Parts: sequence; structure tokens; C-alpha cells
Amino acid sequence: MAEPRRRRSVSATFLLELLAGQLRGLDPAGSPLEVVDLGGGTGGVATALAGYGHRVTVIDPSPDALASLGRRTAEAGLGNRIRARQGDAADLVDVVGERSVDVVVCHRVLEVVESPPEALAAVASVLRPGGALSLLASQRKAAVLGHALAGHIGLARRAWADTQRFDHDGLVALLDGAGFTLQASHGIGALADHVAESVLEAQPGAFAELSALEAEVSTDPAFRALAPQVHLFARVGLTTPAAVD
Ligand SMILES: C[S@@+](CC[C@H](N)C(=O)[O-])C[C@H]1O[C@@H](n2cnc3c(N)ncnc32)[C@H](O)[C@@H]1O
Repeated sequence: MAEPRRRRSVSATFLLELLAGQLRGLDPAGSPLEVVDLGGGTGGVATALAGYGHRVTVIDPSPDALASLGRRTAEAGLGNRIRARQGDAADLVDVVGERSVDVVVCHRVLEVVESPPEALAAVASVLRPGGALSLLASQRKAAVLGHALAGHIGLARRAWADTQRFDHDGLVALLDGAGFTLQASHGIGALADHVAESVLEAQPGAFAELSALEAEVSTDPAFRALAPQVHLFARVGLTTPAAVD
């Protein structure tokens, strides 16, 4: 029997397909890229990118996560394309070296580093000129909405008042401060993360319809602002500004 398709996998699949397309745009010839997945954890994104042919170094402070990554890499037969290094954002330049990689993936990690501006500055310095950052971060307004709808009003107010939490415009300003040029920004999970699982199970074609709708609303500023996560794709060292969609 086919695996049931879960609503979460709508946003996860959309994110991976979005990133794969953005990486193809960096090198239309399709040459393998040198990718660093900072805080890559157990390697969900790393294995997908290695599966597309890229060489990925996962840097993470957690030995447990790296052990899981090792098992996952071996099972997928991707040991020649994925390396694991224990370290964190503060070690990035020492571990990787300046101007040495094409892409840094930083998904759901900016929230846990000590200094987001310093982490982004380190990312900028390990990228080759023209190199790209794939940044995914949780958004404050979605947390406020989620807590309030669940009846946790106090938590919702605390999330609203928490200036350490990110939102789209604040992240764009952080990227600008680190010398990046924003190329694209998309909300992730704006609708998919709210649709009941039973809808996808009960309605034939609902998964495909929801996937299409999720992609369509992802660049709408209102939906993007309320999406649980936002994905920003930005580059360093561009001589001419690139278009934002
Ligand atoms: C929420 S998980 C995200 C994992 C993965 N990037 C993903 O999207 O599935 C956060 C990861 O950041 C790692 N981490 C924690 N502190 C870090 C730091 N200072 N620098 C880099 N990674 C860190 C954790 O070990 C964990 O694997």
C-alpha cells in the first residue's frame, strides 16, 4: 500500500523542490556544488542535496545528530558525497575556510545561535563570490497565531513581545547587514501546515491541489508574513543586484 501523504510533507517537499531549483539556477550546467549545511542535524536536507549530486559538509555541535547522519548517509549509499564535522556557527570559518563553498544551508538554526549577525557574517565569509545562502527560519507572527488559536493567550502575548523572534522583514535586514543580496523569499507552510490531515486522506487529488496552492501563495506578502517559516535565498558578492520574486 502506498505511504499516506502527510500535510507536513507538502511544505517539506515544496521547500526541497524550491531549493533544488534555486541551486540549478546557480549553475545551469548542473555541475556539483560544494554545500555546507550549518546545523544540518540528522541530514534530511543534506541527503536530499547529495542525492541531486552535490557534495555536502554537515556541521553540527550535536554528536547524536551526527551519529544519526552517519547511519542515514550509509543507508542511502551517499558516503562519498556527505561529510560530517562537529562544530557550530562560531567555528564555521575555521572548519570550512574562507571563500571555499558555493552554498550554505542554514535551516532552523539562526534561532539557536548566540549571535545571528555574527553567524551570518561567518556564512558570508565562507562563501565564494556569487555564492548563495539558503536560510529557513521560524516566524514570530505565525507563533503568535498558533498559540492564540490553541487557546494559549499568555504564550501568544509573550511571542508577540519577543523581539528575538524573527520575521521576514527583520531577516531581510539581517541579510542586508551581512552583505547579502536577496534573490527570493517564500513562506513555507502558510496553508499546508494548517490543513487537517483527514482532508488529504479523504479527498483524492487533495495533496496535489494543496501542493500547488502552497506554491502559489508562498510569495504573496500577506501569506508569507503568516507562514510558520520563511525561506530566503540570498547571494554574496554579486556585481549587479538580482531580481526578488
Ligand atoms: C531545529 S534543528 C535543525 C536541523 C536541520 N537544519 C533541519 O532543518 O532539519 C537545529 C540544529 O542546530 C544545531 N545547533 C545548535 N546550536 C548550534 C550552533 N551554535 N551552531 C550551529 N548549529 C547549532 C542543533 O544541534 C540542531 O541540529
